[in-house]
Order: sequence, then C-alpha cells, then structure tokens
Amino acid sequence: MADGDALLELAVSIAREAGEMLLAKRPARPEVLATKSSPTDVVTALDRAAEELIRARIRQARPQDAILGEEGGETPGLSGPSGAGSTPGLSGVDRVKWVVDPIDGTVNFLYGLPDWAVSIAVEVDGEIVAGVVHNVPRGEIFTAVRGGGAWLAGERLRCNTGVPLAQALVATGFGYGAERRRVQAEVLAQVVPGVRDIRRGGSCAVDLCSVAAGRVDAYYERGTNYWDWAAAGLIAAEAGARFAGLNGKPANPELTLSAAPGLFEELHDLLAPLDPERG
Ligand code: IPD
Ligand code: CA
Ligand code: CA
Repeated sequence: MADGDALLELAVSIAREAGEMLLAKRPARPEVLATKSSPTDVVTALDRAAEELIRARIRQARPQDAILGEEGGETPGLSGPSGAGSTPGLSGVDRVKWVVDPIDGTVNFLYGLPDWAVSIAVEVDGEIVAGVVHNVPRGEIFTAVRGGGAWLAGERLRCNTGVPLAQALVATGFGYGAERRRVQAEVLAQVVPGVRDIRRGGSCAVDLCSVAAGRVDAYYERGTNYWDWAAAGLIAAEAGARFAGLNGKPANPELTLSAAPGLFEELHDLLAPLDPERG
C-alpha cells in the first residue's frame, strides 16, 4: 500500500521551494527563451530552472523514482526492490512516478498576471495518489491524497453542487496552434449562450483547483497534457467533482471535463455533439 501522505509531504515541500525560487528570481518582464509547438507556446529560463530544481529534490529524496516533466521529458525509474525508496508504507514492488509542470500558466508568468502554479503529482503503480498545485502569486497551496479529500489552507474543499448549466460559470482554455484555436472558438460560440459566463484564467491546474474550491462551477478544455492536470484532476475529484474525458473516457489530451455530478453530464451533453475533440 502506498503512503500518499508521505509522498504528498515531499511534493508540497518541493513545490513550495520551487515557488519561492520563482518568485525571488522572476524579473519584471521574464524573457522568452524558446518557443515550442507554436510562436505563442513559450518557455522561459525559469520554467527550466524550476523543473531542474524539482528534479534535483526528487532525486535527492527518492533516487529510484521515475520523473515526467514538461520541460525535461520522461526519466525512467530504477527497477528492482529498492524502487519503493525510503517512504514508509511503500512496499518493495510499488513503482513511483512524479509528474511535473514547473510553471502551469507560463503566459501569465510572462505578463505578471497572478495565476500561475507549480504542479506536482505522484503516481504509484500507474495511479495518481497525491497532488499539489502551488499558485505562487496568490500564495495558495492546494493538495489532495487519494481518498483523503482536497485541501487549501487547512480547509477541506467541496466543489459547487446543484448548479444548472444555464447558471454555471465555466472555465476553459485554448491551445497554442491557430487551427486548433479556430475549432475551440467555434465550440465555445455554442457553449457561451447556454451558460452563466466563461472564464479563461490561463492555467489548467488553477482552473481545476477553482472547480475544487467552488470559484467556478465547471471546466473543460481540448488539448491539455497529463502534467497540466495530473495533480489538479485529483484535487477536483477529491473535492467531489467528476473529472473525466468525453463519452466515458478517462481524462485525456483530447478533452478534459470537470464539474459536480449533474452539471458534468449537462456540460458533457452540450459538448459531445459539437465534436470538441477535432482540430
Ligand atoms: C498551459 C495552461 C493553459 C492551457 C494550455 C496549457 P503552460 O500550460 O495550462 O491554461 O490552456 O493548454 O498548455 O504552457 O502554461 O504550461
Ligand atoms: Ca501546463
Ligand atoms: Ca508549463
């Protein structure tokens, strides 16, 4: 049996340290170091520095574990009975993988907008058991351990329930490619008239934590990656929301969707005929 609490404790201390480093080193206007999938998909030196720091801290504490990070890709773990490391509660056969987005919301980070976060999730034998999202500018640390609820500043989080779609505040986001955005805008044009309003916060991880905290009622997005929602998806689910893909699929890069049961199905049924996975 995996000890999610011990893994979470380590994840929180690393996310806190990475956040402090980013705040201390963030210049007034961070410089774009390179672009990735499109000219607007940017990476700064601090995205890389934060991921390096996170990787170094994981390796120091648990050298056998695998790490998947947005900037550095996948580093396999060491096999063998030592794979459980020194965390109490982990048996010799547990395989642990850390899933890291060093800055989720890099464009907000670049522009000095307040919603960007360090996101760290921990998988044991293929299942996410713990996650932390550190919204650094706001000083908020969202956490969850599977089966143990979602938490912020000592308060247990509960998503909003009983909200009909027409009254729902719905967060979403856009990809970095022009063609994908055209389709996303087309889908959104069909969603806007049926809901209270839309929010585009700029960080998938923060959006899902906002579902958990009842700051929005629902979230959906096409084209996010595992590291964007590995931690925050668990946080939303532990706050009572459904977190999944379209048509019974688990959350996946084609589409992720989250809301309380009831609203989840209403939003799902609005989206599904619009074929939001295209583009
Ligand atoms: C992005 C953010 C954004 C979402 C994009 C992501 P990044 O992550 O989560 O909200 O709309 O799809 O790629 O690039 O800031 O780590
Ligand atoms: Ca991201
Ligand atoms: Ca990122």
